[in-house]
Amino acid sequence: MTDLAIAANGLRKSYGDKTVLDGVDLAVPEGTIFSLLGPNGAGKTTAVKILSTLVTADAGDLRVGGHDLAVDPQAVRASIGVTGQFSAVDGLITGEENMWLTADLHHLSRAEGRRVAAELLERFDLAQAAKKPASTYSGGMKRRLDIAMTLVGAPRIIFLDEPTTGLDPRSRHTMWQIIRELVTDGVTVFLTTQYLEEADELADRIAVLNGGRIAAEGTAEELKRIVPGGHVRLRFTDPAAYRDAATALPASTGDDAALALQIPSDGSQRALRTVLDRLDAAGVEADELTVHTPDLDDVFFALTGGAAVPAQTDPLKETVR
Ligand SMILES: Nc1ncnc2c1ncn2[C@@H]1O[C@H](COP(=O)(O)OP(=O)(O)OP(=O)(O)O)[C@@H](O)[C@H]1O
Ligand SMILES: [Mg+2]
Repeated sequence: MTDLAIAANGLRKSYGDKTVLDGVDLAVPEGTIFSLLGPNGAGKTTAVKILSTLVTADAGDLRVGGHDLAVDPQAVRASIGVTGQFSAVDGLITGEENMWLTADLHHLSRAEGRRVAAELLERFDLAQAAKKPASTYSGGMKRRLDIAMTLVGAPRIIFLDEPTTGLDPRSRHTMWQIIRELVTDGVTVFLTTQYLEEADELADRIAVLNGGRIAAEGTAEELKRIVPGGHVRLRFTDPAAYRDAATALPASTGDDAALALQIPSDGSQRALRTVLDRLDAAGVEADELTVHTPDLDDVFFALTGGAAVPAQTDPLKETVR
């Protein structure tokens, strides 16, 4: 158990009669990125606040950095850094002053504080803007400053609550790079996100939080295997061809307006050949054929009860046997 940076067993939290976390288990090995996914209100921020000692749990055996949260929250606090969902940056003072203030909070000497601040501002590409009020920073710059402030105390475990929400694609990729570099240095990252692509891109392991419980947990690959999101899509321009193809492929789902058919499929050559053979036998030709492999969006929708994924209970075998 000593190689776990974060371990939670039976974590519970209610607000009034609303149960937010209903027995959550988490295990995050040191030096890895763990991503907690979940829809709005799932309890991601609550989990982060509890694990970072800002809020007390109702129940659960919780250990962070090898310390028991209930026994030694002070030791936990000393080993972690937290970047909250809402910025801790003070807009009225400069980026540099924000860093100095954080260094003071960590009881660094004046000289040490200035050195660490300058180093981090440089590393996060904020040296140019260091003497400007933080209120003049762009969203991406504020987010980078937020994380730079989190790193002042050189924490071994970092909690990032939706670090890239609201960032443009370029800033998001910069943030991903920063997060990867942290882990290269051996830091453990606990990250919440709404973006499945982000979890897919960064996380060693992912947990999907829904209805107060972990609905699924694993690597991105493992999660994708749970959900039959893969399909072949055929598009037609001739309505008659569309109808004939629908008859030839009884397990397909049709979109009459788009003249498109969707057939559950694992995307293998054999499965594709079966579809094509059926079309050949019926004498129809599709104008467009695309293969879709399941992605984390499919997993997310399936596990969090979203309606965006059509029911795909028939596996390919039933379609084209
Ligand atoms: N201090 C509080 N008092 C009462 N209810 C709270 C409190 N904090 C959170 N909640 C409730 O707990 C639930 C989970 O909230 P939380 O902020 O943890 O969700 P989240 O997964 O972070 O959502 P989002 O994606 O919107 O950030 C919500 O229903 C919220 O209203
Ligand atoms: Mg939140």
